[in-house]
Amino acid sequence: MEEETTPFDFGSTVNRVTFTNRTKDLERLKGNMAGGINTILISPRRWGKSSLVEQAAIELGQERKNARVAVLDMFACNNFEEFLENLSREVLKATSSKWEEQVRNAKTFFRNINPRIEVGNNVDPGISIGFDWKHASKHVGDILDMPERIAQAKKLRLVICVDEFQNMTGWYDDLRTQKLMRAHWQRHKHVTYVLYGSKRQMMAKLFDHSGKPFFRFGDILWLQRIALEHWTPFIVARFKSTGRSIAPGLATALANTMKCHSWYVQQLAHFTWSLTRKKADHAALERALELVLDSNTPLYQLQCENLSLTGINMLRAIANGETQLTSAAVMHEHRLGTSRNVQKARAVLEGKDLIERTTDGYAFLDPGFELWFKREFLGIPAKVWEARTSPNAG
Ligand SMILES: Nc1ncnc2c1ncn2[C@@H]1O[C@H](COP(=O)(O)OP(=O)(O)OP(=O)(O)O)[C@@H](O)[C@H]1O
Ligand SMILES: [Mg+2]
Repeated sequence: MEEETTPFDFGSTVNRVTFTNRTKDLERLKGNMAGGINTILISPRRWGKSSLVEQAAIELGQERKNARVAVLDMFACNNFEEFLENLSREVLKATSSKWEEQVRNAKTFFRNINPRIEVGNNVDPGISIGFDWKHASKHVGDILDMPERIAQAKKLRLVICVDEFQNMTGWYDDLRTQKLMRAHWQRHKHVTYVLYGSKRQMMAKLFDHSGKPFFRFGDILWLQRIALEHWTPFIVARFKSTGRSIAPGLATALANTMKCHSWYVQQLAHFTWSLTRKKADHAALERALELVLDSNTPLYQLQCENLSLTGINMLRAIANGETQLTSAAVMHEHRLGTSRNVQKARAVLEGKDLIERTTDGYAFLDPGFELWFKREFLGIPAKVWEARTSPNAG
């Protein structure tokens, strides 16, 4: 096979050439960022939250000279204190490109708190910030307000993006922390927050329940799938950019097979492309589908290992097309135990985002896992989706 770089991208966030559509989402997010409206962005895993935020940040930076964006990930924050340190560092980095100035700003804006400042190296330039919490815990409010003070002083529109925000619910006394964050953040006039996450139930609990501190904190954007009508031309054009081709009908089948799931479509397209010399054919697509499932098998196995037997049996029932999971016949046939077992297992599967409620029952959320599960547990070979219309793409 020729050595050439793939025109598809599924290893990281995508931007510029490998980013497609999301025009309305982009406009809305950018508008919010620039206009001081906080955004809560929610979608299942790997539909494209981080890519969207990244793209919006790039465009905002090009369109507005005074805009600055700081991004941090809650997975890297094991407690509130670590969050405040990471937040401070990222804000200092975003508001100045020179580390000398970052140090100066840290000293100025944390005058009373005396931060520990460390300067990075060539690989990771910029600074890191630590606080002596015996003393700093009295100044948590000041630390939360630092982004606002620095943005105001430098006449900037600062956007703070926090990925996997729902992770903070695992912190000690997180409700008190939520109240504190909300109380400070809602007073910020020069800072806009974008809080996003993939655990949908947890995100909804945080932001969509009255009585919770973050209720009505911002504009809630439930990210949808990228529609089939955008995937088809995208795939065709990406093939063409490398001198290979794919018929629109086959590109449609490709996207459909992965139910328009961003990450999987890119993966399947990549494998199909790599098996194609000139013009992609059906056989290449089928073979590529096997490769997608094979390469993700360790992940799927791990997901199954973490389930109870009832959980596995319930997935079997759903894979078999059962909709009435608590009917006596279904419970008996699929060995689901009592209806209490069923409810418990269903809640676990939903909490893990393996299944979702649909209008007439339950469905797998992850199209790759669904195909793999059917192949491994029911002996149904993974098939390319031939229909011209999408199964359930938005
Ligand atoms: N607009 C887009 N156009 C084309 N492909 C996309 C787009 N957005 C996302 N993708 C594909 O989906 C993959 C996952 O995207 P991204 O990491 O942004 O999703 P996410 O929702 O942040 O995922 P996670 O839940 O894992 O954080 C990307 O690597 C890319 O392959
Ligand atoms: Mg992400």
